[in-house]
Amino acid sequence: MEGYRIAPSILAADFARLGEEVAAVEAAGADLLHFDVMDNHYVPNLSIGPLVCASLRPRTKLPIDVHLMVKPVDRIIPEFAKAGANLISFHPEASDHVDRTLALIRECGCRAGLAFNPATPLSYLDHTLERLDLVLLMSVNPGFGGQQFIPSMLPKIAEVRERIKVASRATGREVWLQVDGGVKADNIAQIAKAGADTFVAGSAIFGSRDYAATLRDLRARLAVV
Ligand code: DX5
Ligand code: ZN
Repeated sequence: MEGYRIAPSILAADFARLGEEVAAVEAAGADLLHFDVMDNHYVPNLSIGPLVCASLRPRTKLPIDVHLMVKPVDRIIPEFAKAGANLISFHPEASDHVDRTLALIRECGCRAGLAFNPATPLSYLDHTLERLDLVLLMSVNPGFGGQQFIPSMLPKIAEVRERIKVASRATGREVWLQVDGGVKADNIAQIAKAGADTFVAGSAIFGSRDYAATLRDLRARLAVV
């Protein structure tokens, strides 16, 4: 169980009571706050931006894990850094220059992640993995919460875990492997076994009645991996 992190996705929270929802998952023992940003362009949905991030920042001690599903990405990165983001991930297809975007996230003082859609090839890890803090593997197509986990992502998770192992041996750096989409109590152990260490869960947590009980259940399933 040690070394696993659970990141509730606030996309599934009640936006009319967002501050309370964030406080509730923090009290329930969440490790990170997953903050999904959608622009109705890179993905067909519109969610929340830096203003909402800035208003949540003083209300939580949890690291804010911003998942950018926007195109272009560079302009908005400093805004999120100013708004208190700790970690910023983006999709390589949405950046004109992946390395420059990674450098920008760093310059802004945040940790950097690269996000892969189910069909995005892992070749994007070539020459970038040594510069990443996090690999975000989507296990649904981005744009909406509440979708079904795509089982063929399990071998892809294992492949990324292998690449991280090799890279970490060479660099000594820790890289998190985050899986995002359709993570639930009945599949979290399998996803961990494949190699994930960081789990985004939106509907599984915010769709439940007792967030603390749900987080306890998710952790209990990780404890026996
Ligand atoms: C999907 C988002 C996910 C989503 C996860 O585009 O990136 O983070 O909110 O929600 P669930 O856990 O409900 O699949
Ligand atoms: Zn996400």
